[in-house]
Amino acid sequence: MASDANLTVCADPATLAEAAAHLIVDAATEAVRDRGRFLFCLAGGETPRATYARLALPAFSERVRWDRTWIFFGDERAVPPDHPESNYRMAHEALLSRVPIPASQIFRMRGDQTDAEGAAAAYAAEIAAAIGTKRGELPRFDMVLLGLGIDGHTASLFPGSPVLREVFRTVAAVHVAAAQIPQRLTLTFPVLNAAARVVFLVTGPEKAKIVRTVLSEHGGLPAALVRPTDGELIWLTDRAAAALHPVSQAR
Ligand code: 6PG
Repeated sequence: MASDANLTVCADPATLAEAAAHLIVDAATEAVRDRGRFLFCLAGGETPRATYARLALPAFSERVRWDRTWIFFGDERAVPPDHPESNYRMAHEALLSRVPIPASQIFRMRGDQTDAEGAAAAYAAEIAAAIGTKRGELPRFDMVLLGLGIDGHTASLFPGSPVLREVFRTVAAVHVAAAQIPQRLTLTFPVLNAAARVVFLVTGPEKAKIVRTVLSEHGGLPAALVRPTDGELIWLTDRAAAALHPVSQAR
């Protein structure tokens, strides 16, 4: 459960996108300075689109060492990369096609691969190879962005899914009957909770109930189980999404 201390309420989605872009630039600057590169894991869904678009603007993008940035994805649906529902396509449209990041540093989850288990294992191996994690170690992203579903899911970690109990694999294939696109690939809690910084981006009145539940109850909803063991957890919401929660000072 995230305490209120991690919660920043922004006036509206545009202000949240600006705040998130600043957080990303700061994290990228620190990671490149301290570790020589920025290991950045993107969220899917619609909410992050405004943040990615803001980050792609010169005022932000010119402050990021894209040549030292490695891009990964938190989850992907079982669709091709040019499909309207593809998380990769959204990120590519809003950000990756607009910044000078080497294609070899963008690691797309192959959700469209028919052998879903094979695709999950292959992505886990890609992450380990790209980051250089040793056997038995967990890959540590410098920043992971996440969204929040109205049922409390995050990435493609949905309530009641067996993958919530995964303690070894970093990437899993899941089948979510309730989701519009049931077959997905997702990072698991071990790798999310190994991150140096996790940032939830949540906007809209439809998220107000679930934000209150996740942030104020000890419920075992997936988003409430994202608690970095040695990292920072930040919740960025707009006023509408925080409307039912005793909020911190609005930005
Ligand atoms: C996905 C996302 C998912 C998303 C939430 C919120 O692939 O569906 O990873 O976890 O973040 O469903 O989606 P919105 O931002 O569109 O509300």
